[in-house]
Amino acid sequence: MNCYQIEGGHPLEGCLAVQGAKNSVLPILAACLLAPGRSVIHNCPDLSDVAATLDILSLLGCRVDRDGDTVTVDANGLCRGEIPDRLMREMRSSVIFLGALLARLGTAEMSYPGGCELGPRPIDLHLGALRALGAEIREDQGCLCCRGGRRLRGRELCLSMPSVGATENAMLAACGCPGTTTIVGAAREPEIVDLQNFLRAMGADVSGAGSTAIVIRGGRPLYPARYTIMGDRIAAATYLCAAAAAGGEVELTGIDPNHLSAVLACLEEAGCEIHTRQGGVALACHGPLQGISPVRTAPYPGFPTDAQAILMAALAGGEGATMFVENIFDNRYRHVDELRRMGASIQVAGRVAVVSGVGGLHGACVHSTDLRGGAALVVAALGAEGTTQVCGLKHIHRGYDGLDRCLRQLGAHIEHIS
Ligand code: UD1
Repeated sequence: MNCYQIEGGHPLEGCLAVQGAKNSVLPILAACLLAPGRSVIHNCPDLSDVAATLDILSLLGCRVDRDGDTVTVDANGLCRGEIPDRLMREMRSSVIFLGALLARLGTAEMSYPGGCELGPRPIDLHLGALRALGAEIREDQGCLCCRGGRRLRGRELCLSMPSVGATENAMLAACGCPGTTTIVGAAREPEIVDLQNFLRAMGADVSGAGSTAIVIRGGRPLYPARYTIMGDRIAAATYLCAAAAAGGEVELTGIDPNHLSAVLACLEEAGCEIHTRQGGVALACHGPLQGISPVRTAPYPGFPTDAQAILMAALAGGEGATMFVENIFDNRYRHVDELRRMGASIQVAGRVAVVSGVGGLHGACVHSTDLRGGAALVVAALGAEGTTQVCGLKHIHRGYDGLDRCLRQLGAHIEHIS
């Protein structure tokens, strides 16, 4: 058995420095390919998704070193543009290497990333953007074969949906395309601003990230860079929801509270006291959480889909009802059955879930169904009476650097049993 054993009902207290953002570090590590030489990335969280990304970089011929939370990627030796199926299956977001390889080598080959635990995740917007830049892409028996080279030219791209991954892929590819690319309908997530900042540090001419139109003047020579990854807003939301569920007073550092506005508004409405300052946020919660107005997931700056399960877990042990509407992914209520094992009352109909607070959950043996669903079970367990075992930790290790260690630092009674 490999699980977290959590004894609930102990308030959380103390201060925690939040890990670097998983969703920033993955595209930024891929972007290291754009320039020969050694890029140095600080605040790099220790996650299985990061390890998978570093495996891909090594296999492509880069030299990769990790020293604590600093990762060095030497892309001088980049010698191949094919990623084997084994590594593509490990992490769906490895599709981000398409844009980076096209920009640097003018060619890329990889297997089609399959569906994932959140339901089908198409990549039509990624491929459409790269084709619009001039790439020729053949899809053959689950394999993607991309050729760019001299055909690549900057131009205006329109994304019909603000896909985070497609925006990042287009930004990376556009750095290698002579001329001006404008991405219209771009995603506005803070991680895209972080990628822009890294690309600028490499010498790229990119502007507009954080708005719906990003402009890249491509084809310039790029150089390796030194960069510090921003704080992880979803990990921060997890620790705040944990303190809201268990009660107590916590302070998080290394995070921009503006990135958390939608989540903080919900926690405040549920009865938590929140104080923000530059680079940090504090939360105090001394009573049961109350039901709040409907929570609708939406692209940034709306309520993040990645925090849906986590907030739901906190509210399930409170009082009053809350409606959730999941607008981004089709299959993102798989944690609900597991929360029910802990006594939660949640009705699901399609995209809508209604949580009726039962005034307290109880411990149970539960299984993580996906990354954020797993974190949600930990949040629920911290507020529940009795002992909970959360299994399926491989999902949690994809996105949290020492979730149990960080929670212990805040006084939680959580142990890793293997
Ligand atoms: C990223 C995040 C993930 C987060 C998600 C939404 C990373 C590594 N992952 O995932 O944690 O949950 O944003 O905030 O940054 N879509 C298409 N066609 C495409 C691409 C996407 O239809 O080609 C759809 C998806 O099915 C989904 C929606 O667009 O319904 C949003 O997906 P997208 O923003 O692309 O998510 P990811 O980049 O995969």
